[in-house]
Amino acid sequence: MALNSDIHSETTTPVPSAVPSLRALVRSDANGIIDRLAQHRLASFPPEAAKTFRRLTPGETARILGVTEAYLRQLMPPASVGERRQYALEDLAAIRKALDAKPRSVGKYLPGRKPGEPLQVIAVMNFKGGSGKTTTTAHLAQYLALRGYRVLAVDLDPQASLTGLFGLRPEIDVPAGGSFFGAIRHSGEQVPMRSIVKTTYMPGLDLVPAALELMEYEFETPHALMRAQGSNQVFSRAAHALREIEGDYDVVVIDCPPQLGYLSISALVAATSVLVTVHPQMLDVASLGQFMLMLGDLLDVIAGASGGVESSYDWMRYLITRFEPGDGPQTQMLTLLRSMFGERILIHPTLKSTAISDAGLTNQTLFEVSRSQFIRSTYDRAMESIENVNGEIDALIRKAWGRPT
Ligand SMILES: Nc1ncnc2c1ncn2[C@@H]1O[C@H](COP(=O)(O)OP(=O)(O)OP(=O)(O)O)[C@@H](O)[C@H]1O
Ligand SMILES: [Mg+2]
Repeated sequence: MALNSDIHSETTTPVPSAVPSLRALVRSDANGIIDRLAQHRLASFPPEAAKTFRRLTPGETARILGVTEAYLRQLMPPASVGERRQYALEDLAAIRKALDAKPRSVGKYLPGRKPGEPLQVIAVMNFKGGSGKTTTTAHLAQYLALRGYRVLAVDLDPQASLTGLFGLRPEIDVPAGGSFFGAIRHSGEQVPMRSIVKTTYMPGLDLVPAALELMEYEFETPHALMRAQGSNQVFSRAAHALREIEGDYDVVVIDCPPQLGYLSISALVAATSVLVTVHPQMLDVASLGQFMLMLGDLLDVIAGASGGVESSYDWMRYLITRFEPGDGPQTQMLTLLRSMFGERILIHPTLKSTAISDAGLTNQTLFEVSRSQFIRSTYDRAMESIENVNGEIDALIRKAWGRPT
């Protein structure tokens, strides 16, 4: 149908033939946006300038490793870069090994899972757009990698925001079948997981990128369900795909799309724990009620598919995101949520901070930007909140492995 603003008017003015159809308009706008953004990215971030992770100050390195700066310098003196003394991320692994070799520290500085401790798969969810899923996933994945875990971040959102944050352009850097869709698709040939996993600029952190093709999964799954003998095998594709690379990682963090469809069902089947991000504002909390109802329905579908066998999860937590402590209504909402969910809300919220949003504008996390780019107190408050939140999640992971807390 032609797009005509007079379409509902009484007049019989003929539709000018130059008016484009909605289909043509949408396609041309889409291509316009993609081209313009590609030019913008090219100007601000040339493709040959692959992302790297900055070097760390001795203070940062000591804090990450949980040792004093003096002891750190004794173990490995920092390299001098101009006037500065710094450590590269690669140094962390070597220092950890040296620390762990000390007789009384065995197992303390190498946190990765031991035999019998299952892979942790954390699904970060909420169908509310902008609730902080991608920001949470990126910071959690990087926090865990910095602490010595082997981490896989999976971008399950066709919008591919996490992929972009890690410096990849989905329409250029992710070939057809190169997203998680390639490994979980029901039609066509599934590709091995190892062929789609990409290393990142951080040691210990890999990425399964997303691309728009993930949308196809929502369309093809109903057909697969009609063809299949049982729905269990259809829903467990993602879980099977992760099993292929299970031995390579300690923790998988999945950034789910802002809708509850078949991709989210796949994430739930693969997950061992669920993190729900909530911005504590009235509309968001109202939407959370709807989200939880629908999540309940999905879990019913999953239980039905496995013949009523209840899937077990190690933990489910709500994370309060973009919290402004000085904001009365937000504080009231937080009190309300705490009164309902108690310890299922993480003790620490992620604070709203310009340091986090500004870092996001340049496709970076707070760990990637340097403190000197910000007012120190702004950066420090944001970093403290990020470290507290992720420290709690780290403790939940260790607890799931049955380690002393
Ligand atoms: N703690 C924070 N402080 C300031 N800004 C934040 C914070 N967390 C997230 N943001 C900003 O809020 C916006 C939405 O965050 P994010 O993309 O993480 O949400 P999302 O739930 O993944 O969104 P979507 O549903 O579209 O996938 C982003 O612009 C991000 O930079
Ligand atoms: Mg997102």
